Amino acid sequence: MSAPIIRSLAELNALTQSWKRAGETIGVVPTMGALHDGHMSLVRAAKASTDRVIVTLFVNPRQFNSPEDFAKYPRTELADAALLGPYQVDALFVPEGGEVYPEGHSTTVSVAGISAPLEGAHRPGHFDGVATVVTILLNMTRADRAFFGEKDWQQLQLVKRLVADLRLPVEIMPCPSVRAEDRLALSSRNQRLSPEARVKAAALPAALFASAEAISQGKDAAETLAEARASLETRGLGPVEYLEICDAETLGLPRPGAPARLLAAVWLDGVRLIDNVAVRLG
Ligand code: PAF
Repeated sequence: MSAPIIRSLAELNALTQSWKRAGETIGVVPTMGALHDGHMSLVRAAKASTDRVIVTLFVNPRQFNSPEDFAKYPRTELADAALLGPYQVDALFVPEGGEVYPEGHSTTVSVAGISAPLEGAHRPGHFDGVATVVTILLNMTRADRAFFGEKDWQQLQLVKRLVADLRLPVEIMPCPSVRAEDRLALSSRNQRLSPEARVKAAALPAALFASAEAISQGKDAAETLAEARASLETRGLGPVEYLEICDAETLGLPRPGAPARLLAAVWLDGVRLIDNVAVRLG
């Protein structure tokens, strides 16, 4: 049996109101569909810690940088509903665009600081789109807990910040990235890689883990990252948009004694891949 699809907010409200009245907790897993094992790990985490689970599926036009990228994003709603079947989620919420952004919608949520570097610098406006839709989805679903993958590390920090700043009554639950056998982080965009490119893509996690290990062992960070960048480009992964070490929470410059993160975005076969790993600075 596929997951029950709900399209209207009125229908969703009736469900969430009855759950709240019964004292049940609600978990939400926000997605743009094209579900894979990474999403399923979020669903499993939600099932384990909340009474009711809603998966949202909305390909948010406001977070794409071009109409072509928005149009190319995989849309596999029926397969997604079927994949969710065995997990017995309570609802797959698939709102129409007008339900999320009704006529006259004029509000944008913008998180200063975290939105600026890395993804923000290369995808202008992307994080305003993410912050706006996440705020709307959290409010629509009345979630007590929301589950986000560490694969989109900067997005996760942005959501944590916005929830704290707007005092939204929801707990953000980070979930570790899920990786294929060759350690490529699972992503809906991986589907667009040719078989040859998919093999090459493993060079990205390999470079990140090897660099993080070398830097943790005391090797000079700038030299390590320059070598990793050159090695990625030699293997056909490029351009490398960024390969940087940042403060894990603010995404600004690393702070002495605070957790740091190594993050990268590279192009391969017309597909933009992003990934990140923890790094310990000397
Ligand atoms: O990570 C995603 O799939 C999207 O950015 C999200 C959080 C569902 C918002 O559209």
